Amino acid sequence: MGASQQEQGPLRVALLGCGVVGSEVARLLTQQSADLASRVGAPLELVGIAVRDASAPRPLAESVDRSLLTEDAEGLVARADIVIEVMGGIEPARALLLRAIEAGAAVVTANKALLAEDGPTLYKAADTAGVDIYFEAAVAGAIPIVRPVRESLAGDSVRRILGIVNGTTNYVLDQMASTGMSFDDAVRQAQDLGYAEADPTADVEGFDAAAKAAILASLAFHTRVSLEDVAREGITRITADDVAWAAQTGHVIKLLAIAESVTDDDGSHGVSVRVHPALVPVAHPLAGVRGAFNAVFVEADAAGELMFYGRGAGGAPTASAVLGDVVSAARHRVLGGKGPEESTYAALPILPASTAVTRYQVRLAVDDRPGVLAQVAQVLASKGVSIEAVRQPSEAAAPGADDTHGADGGSTGVAHLVITTHAAAEAALAATVDAIAVLEPVREITSVLRVEGA
Ligand code: NDP
Ligand code: HSE
Repeated sequence: MGASQQEQGPLRVALLGCGVVGSEVARLLTQQSADLASRVGAPLELVGIAVRDASAPRPLAESVDRSLLTEDAEGLVARADIVIEVMGGIEPARALLLRAIEAGAAVVTANKALLAEDGPTLYKAADTAGVDIYFEAAVAGAIPIVRPVRESLAGDSVRRILGIVNGTTNYVLDQMASTGMSFDDAVRQAQDLGYAEADPTADVEGFDAAAKAAILASLAFHTRVSLEDVAREGITRITADDVAWAAQTGHVIKLLAIAESVTDDDGSHGVSVRVHPALVPVAHPLAGVRGAFNAVFVEADAAGELMFYGRGAGGAPTASAVLGDVVSAARHRVLGGKGPEESTYAALPILPASTAVTRYQVRLAVDDRPGVLAQVAQVLASKGVSIEAVRQPSEAAAPGADDTHGADGGSTGVAHLVITTHAAAEAALAATVDAIAVLEPVREITSVLRVEGA
């Protein structure tokens, strides 16, 4: 035990929440107390754990001292030096964190939904009170990504962030592709494994990834980006056929969060942030991100390309990130100093997703007769969209083609086209699809997916 540790009394730690993440935070705080004390320079004393129902059975928290459980979160916050919020939701989490900050406590939170909705209120309160607010666990679970973007890259200029930041959707898409599991079964498994949010709609509709994208974009571009600034599309419309077609064309489908510096047609410089499913070529490193793992690519002017990879969800991985923040905040209590404050000096405009440059892969069912492909190609040319590849798989080889076989198994005169474009503005690509859809020989636009990472 070092000299400073002998002199320094314990730091009182309040834990708000004892679910998937909170129970692991409590376990690590207890089991690693000696090491944590040495790293901090003072013991960390867990003084209470706020929950909704203190009498409920807690199979995840068998190692937790039940006498620490309390339903009085406000009272707990009032007697802490450091408050860890892992309860989730907007209220009462926001009010409790503000109360803690105003009382002079440092706060650590994993709550991306709250930060994306109202982070600036919390950051301002922390600045005013002169206390730390840390939130590494709010983005990509165990992966250190907030600190690298906020601190390590503070001397560089980030151009683009491209990431798989939601473990649940990556797990679901991976299970659909590798085992043929249904969407619903895969979501249920992700819930059982503790990856999904309390309401998994937040995962599958892309809200969780959008919240994380907003947080990362704010840090990377020194600009306030909130949830409603993020163009969002989830994975609920991805079908087994989409997954099979992706494989046939050398891709996997991933839910991507993309935050990039863009310049629109008028030359205005700004930030575009979007979350959507995308086809990623199998050779791209993001295509190999399996299960509930996350990965984030960062492209910066001087650093070039960086990739961060690891477990993006689950109790222990997320608790690891929480504890790292607790140690940072606790060290400041012991040694003095303070973590970084919100940086929004650039205040760049948020440009609409239509300004982003991307590529499309469009699948369509058309009349199988001469001249149809030429008509489709003519529309693309008229919109200034260049074609990278056109595939016309044989009817038998086309995933989902059973739907277009006649009752006798013979052809019904339908051909499937898969058109991949070169890069173009999202607005031009969307207008092209609209124009193709109304061509007389086009029976159906079966799917439109963006292609990223090529
Ligand atoms: P859980 O639903 O498993 O746990 C939430 C805990 O908070 C429960 O113990 C619950 O009490 C308690 N709680 C909720 N509301 C209240 C309230 N009003 N008053 C007192 N206690 C309350 O959530 P997770 O552990 O999965 O997630 C917690 C946070 O961490 C969320 O913000 C989530 O987005 C974030 N996160 C989660 C990850 C994961 O993999 N699960 C990964 C990264 C971040 P009770 O047990 O009595 O119901
Ligand atoms: N529900 C989130 C996910 C938890 O699946 O990634 C981690 O933030």
